[in-house]
Amino acid sequence: EVAAAVEGIRRLARHVSDFPQPGVLFTDLTPVFADGPALRSIMRALAAPVAGRVDLVAGIDARGFLLGAGVALELGTGVLAVRKKGKLPPPVHGEEYALEYGSAALEVPAEAIELAGRRVLVVDDVLATGGTLRASVDLLERCGAIVETVAVVAEVPGLGGRERLDGVGLHCLTTV
Ligand code: PRP
Ligand code: MG
Repeated sequence: EVAAAVEGIRRLARHVSDFPQPGVLFTDLTPVFADGPALRSIMRALAAPVAGRVDLVAGIDARGFLLGAGVALELGTGVLAVRKKGKLPPPVHGEEYALEYGSAALEVPAEAIELAGRRVLVVDDVLATGGTLRASVDLLERCGAIVETVAVVAEVPGLGGRERLDGVGLHCLTTV
């Protein structure tokens, strides 16, 4: 399934120069996710390594949502939306992270669901600098969750993301 997923990513991903800023080569996975067989093979490839080892999937706002529910269905678990600041009703737990300019924050419910002791698979589309996923892992662990693995469709090498996630199990289908 990994081979089929990687083939779909290679064939369908679009590479856009100078977006969102000059000098950045942006990888757009939109056409990959819009392809039925590619989407299915990605869900399966992200889920397979942790089958039976997790009881919750956390999808990261916003593109991680596209993956979270599908991977959870594969695994037979529920899904948790890790949301950008201000979207969830209180009380919440939050974690700030640095952007190139300024900062952002991710939040999860503090009381609506019990995270203590839950074994979680965190999913997102892309690992770049690792800021988003580092904050996600720190947030979930602070809530008592056990982050089994972070799974992403694609890693952008050379931006320090992998290093930033040192100590966390990381599963990337491919590099872009
Ligand atoms: C993108 C991408 C990852 C993150 C990776 O999300 O979907 O979540 O950046 O970058 P990093 O490793 O440097 O943190 P973004 O916040 O741009 O927006 P979206 O998912 O809400 O579209
Ligand atoms: Mg994102």
